[in-house]
Amino acid sequence: MTEATIKLVGLRKAFGKNQVLRGVDLDLAPGQVTVLMGANGAGKSTLVKVLCGVHAADAGTVTLAGVAFAPASPSAALRAGVVTVHQNINDGVVPDLDVASNLLLDHLADGAGAFLNDRKMRARAREIAAAVGLEVDVARPVAGLALADRQLVSIARAMAQEPQLLILDEPTSSLSATEAERLFALIERLRAQGVAILYISHRMSDIRRLADRIVSMRDGAISGRFEGQPLDYSGAVRAMLGHEITEVDITIPTPGAPVLEARGLVLRPGARPFDLTAPQNEVIAITGLVGSGKTALAEVLFGLAQPTAGSLRLDDAPYTPRTATEAVAAGVFLCPKDRLINAVVADFDITRNLTLPFLRRHSRAHFLRRASENATATRMVGEMGVVCQSPADGILTLSGGNQQKVMVARWMAEASRLLILDEPFQGVDIQARRDICAKIRATAQTRATIVFVAELDEALEVADRILVLSEHSIVGAHRNENIDVAAIMAEVVDAAPETTRELA
Ligand SMILES: Nc1ncnc2c1ncn2[C@@H]1O[C@H](COP(=O)(O)OP(=O)(O)OP(=O)(O)O)[C@@H](O)[C@H]1O
Ligand SMILES: [Mg+2]
Repeated sequence: MTEATIKLVGLRKAFGKNQVLRGVDLDLAPGQVTVLMGANGAGKSTLVKVLCGVHAADAGTVTLAGVAFAPASPSAALRAGVVTVHQNINDGVVPDLDVASNLLLDHLADGAGAFLNDRKMRARAREIAAAVGLEVDVARPVAGLALADRQLVSIARAMAQEPQLLILDEPTSSLSATEAERLFALIERLRAQGVAILYISHRMSDIRRLADRIVSMRDGAISGRFEGQPLDYSGAVRAMLGHEITEVDITIPTPGAPVLEARGLVLRPGARPFDLTAPQNEVIAITGLVGSGKTALAEVLFGLAQPTAGSLRLDDAPYTPRTATEAVAAGVFLCPKDRLINAVVADFDITRNLTLPFLRRHSRAHFLRRASENATATRMVGEMGVVCQSPADGILTLSGGNQQKVMVARWMAEASRLLILDEPFQGVDIQARRDICAKIRATAQTRATIVFVAELDEALEVADRILVLSEHSIVGAHRNENIDVAAIMAEVVDAAPETTRELA
């Protein structure tokens, strides 16, 4: 038997009265990918933060290669060979520093970098970047990078440490398929080198691709261990939920009158014009690769960008929003993707994060009525199943998936004519995704709904109709009945150059 690289026994951690880790026992072996599955709020990120020196455990022990391990800080954990890629990407990079400094941060912090001049530092940074396939100018500040590149910087920085244990907390939730593939290749290389890997994800495709073994976590304790091929994926899901997963009922309703009508829309010079009608009482999913124009279309509909050509009508009147404020005033709401960059206000509590766009409705004579805000927050927290102690808690005390539920709830709290959700399932667990789908569908008769998703599985789960976007134009439309998945996949990948990036 190989010696366990890392052994956790009886780990406990509470935040105030909230007992989050309730005695976690876990072994991680070298050269093995252990996938940790658990519902939003189960305690996965908290466990990660104990292992990497962000939080101290209240009780329990960790041994690393037979030696007691209780890192007092993240840099102590790094020095011991425990490398972490966090769920919150800003935990892994310093946005104001350039890429090279970020990649060499740990050397610089050790004092070892003091002897490197700028030229040598950049050359070393380029080597580190190349090792993970990161292609950016290392002199650029990290703050100016796209999210996926920022995340690769934090991964590349971690790789520079030659880990014994590599922990990745939902690393692919905002990567494109190509970028995720690059990361998987890296993980496989490190596994072959004997690194123990703890991989956290809600994406079944990642899990199937990487798992040597699955450990399920429920309410702060390990609730199931699954080894031996083929892995029992449905058993692992059952163990993390404590019940069978519920399916969403996709009974396709009869669409109502058109709410949004786009005619001859050209999203960028040279793109093919297309028409789009979003009727009342229909949920439309729009799918396509990164760079196919999903974000560009969402921005045009929400007044953040102007189309090259074409016209928009809303409820049979011209609709020409020049700003997001005008769009919201017309009843068009957009829940953007990448919540930490675009949506979460870190300083605000859960309630204010929920009511933010509609503060005027909670005011009387210029005075904000907290009671009115509280009523909305309590209602939405209940309806969306946000796991929290109190809506008055800071938004960042929520688990990642629960923050995402708040962001979606924000735009569902008030009546709209057209609700646009851009990647609403980022970081939500498999059951919560079903719940959010059910909620979107149950309220769909009051408006038109457009959901942008990169994953076809998600489109099939939420939509009445699926549209495929390629090269900034709609190339296919399918009613979600007896659907030909292969035909959709062909439209999705057809002629889409692999390297194009999503428009900012
Ligand atoms: N800094 C904190 N202060 C207070 N409570 C916290 C803090 N961090 C986490 N919690 C709470 O601990 C619990 C577990 O959160 P954690 O982030 O570990 O969940 P998770 O399993 O990673 O979920 P997700 O899949 O949504 O990322 C939640 O109830 C959360 O609100
Ligand atoms: Mg988490």
